[in-house]
Amino acid sequence: MSYTTSEVRSKFLSFMKEKEHAIVPSASLIPENDPTTLFTGSGMQPMVPYLLGQPHPLGTRIADSQKSFRSQDIEEVGDNRHTTFFEMLGNWSFGDYFKEDQIQWMWEFLIDELKLEPKNFYVTCFKGNDELSIPRDTLSAELWQKLFKGKGLDVKVGENPEVDGIKDDEHIFYYSEKKNWWSRAGVPANMPEGEPGGPDSEMFYDFDGDGTKKMHETSIYKDAPCHVNCDCGRFLEIGNNVFMQYKKTQNGFEELPQMNVDHGSGLERYVAALRNDPDVFNIDVFDKAKEILENRSDKKYGHDETTTYAMRVILDHIRAATFLIGDDVVPGNKDQMYFVRRLIRRSVRFARNLAINDSFTKDIAQTFIDVYKDEYKNLESKKGIIISELEKEEEKFRKTLENGIKEFEKIADADISGVNAFNLLQSYGFPIELTEELAKERGIGVDRVSFDEEKKKHSEESRTASAGKFKGGLGGDGEMEVKYHTATHLLHEALRLVLGDHVLQKGSNITPERLRFDFSHGEKLTDEQKKKVEDIVNDVIAQDLPVIREEVSYDEARSRGAIGLFDAKYGDMVSIYHVGEGKNRGDKNMFSMEFCGGPHVERTGVLGTFKIQKEESVSQGIRRIKAVLS
Ligand code: SER
Repeated sequence: MSYTTSEVRSKFLSFMKEKEHAIVPSASLIPENDPTTLFTGSGMQPMVPYLLGQPHPLGTRIADSQKSFRSQDIEEVGDNRHTTFFEMLGNWSFGDYFKEDQIQWMWEFLIDELKLEPKNFYVTCFKGNDELSIPRDTLSAELWQKLFKGKGLDVKVGENPEVDGIKDDEHIFYYSEKKNWWSRAGVPANMPEGEPGGPDSEMFYDFDGDGTKKMHETSIYKDAPCHVNCDCGRFLEIGNNVFMQYKKTQNGFEELPQMNVDHGSGLERYVAALRNDPDVFNIDVFDKAKEILENRSDKKYGHDETTTYAMRVILDHIRAATFLIGDDVVPGNKDQMYFVRRLIRRSVRFARNLAINDSFTKDIAQTFIDVYKDEYKNLESKKGIIISELEKEEEKFRKTLENGIKEFEKIADADISGVNAFNLLQSYGFPIELTEELAKERGIGVDRVSFDEEKKKHSEESRTASAGKFKGGLGGDGEMEVKYHTATHLLHEALRLVLGDHVLQKGSNITPERLRFDFSHGEKLTDEQKKKVEDIVNDVIAQDLPVIREEVSYDEARSRGAIGLFDAKYGDMVSIYHVGEGKNRGDKNMFSMEFCGGPHVERTGVLGTFKIQKEESVSQGIRRIKAVLS
């Protein structure tokens, strides 16, 4: 039976609601308070604090459909299954139910409700690892086996699928931690201290259930045994149940204070499985956009490889860009903005392969806005900006693309030097990854190291120039903003002291007149709480504590207790600011410590008097404070 994407999404959420889950809206694609990554790439990311033991304001059972973006997959897009943007259906138990219920419910939902064929359904479980002292997950395997049996399928458990392939009647397989372990950092060895993770049980759909499509036999993997984690395309992982019960320590693992379930499934992949068609680009959400591309190019999707590839890139990239701009990330040169730029420019380049050489991104985006606007209201309310940003970026790049390609052709008879690659960026707007991709298609290389040097040299020159230009320009307004910035840190910490550690920054906006601070907290603040917060902040101001910046490794910052938002990854050097002297947040003379790029005042004494003017709700679980200094 086949359903639309929207039907499957709402069926999942109603199903989980019946199982007493609070349904929460999708968080933004830009993570808040998670310095480990630029984008929300899975449903669990916004749930990390609760998996680690902080109480969720809505209870111990939560479910959602989370928009996700995986920038690392940009260049993988083009085959029938990779997308950068996708929706992840998820449910979480924060120390509530565990394996029995989770596995039972997955079966009920997929097999009983959606009517997925059990004979095309496969699962995997964790094999166990003595060195890590993590036992084999026999319980999950037994639970699945019983459920298959209930449908009259007497399935067996395979021990060594990578070597033996799939033997008769095997539908459940054990794999090592390379496959059946999940943490944000991957396998146990890569997990930093404090990171949560656990064994998982993954679910797969077999697109060649009756063996007639010969998907494995006709693939490049035909000489190796086929199993559910084979890349031939026969099997698609549709979801993952993580039994998140461990935390990495210095020497190994310890149990988290609670046994958690973290389930995430690909919504689009469910829809593809229900259609028994392995091409995710054939699901309903792409229909209208595909039609436009077919009309404009006068070519049929699926007709030939070049056409199909180009159409998939555009479908994926413009959908992702639409959602990202909807979450306020406009195309630009830095951080998240750079990815939006790359997505749009890459689409324009592939549209050229389809002979579409005039404005198309806005029409494609409009189809996605129409498809998703009921679930994601921001797409409709931000429609104006989505369309105008896409158009602007598209037109800008199209102007230089032709000449850029000509220039590329001129220099492409040998490896591309750093200077030439930089020139393609500067003069023609070619992101380095685009130059690298074009070079790869030609079988030539790009000197990335000298490109990076060239770029650095240039940015140093322009920084020097702008420093000269603005020298002394930071007048009264700038100073006030700096003061409000430091006051924001004081407020953040004071709120945590008064209300609890669940308080985390959710947003901040500063003008010369006031600060505005959004934070996680479920209830209205009482007058007494507001007074306490003000008193704490004013007390720290009166103590005239120093505000100190340090540059440390990300891991050190974390272990010293720094909180807050920062775009950094494990291994990066980061800047932290602490108010007061000492090493760790929580030390006697240290008031607060946050990841922060600054700038700040040198001592708190200059801030004056702090006063809360307004406290209100922004959305479920988020409060907002406006405050002034006088
Ligand atoms: N965290 C798991 C995943 O992303 C399940 O939600 O696959």
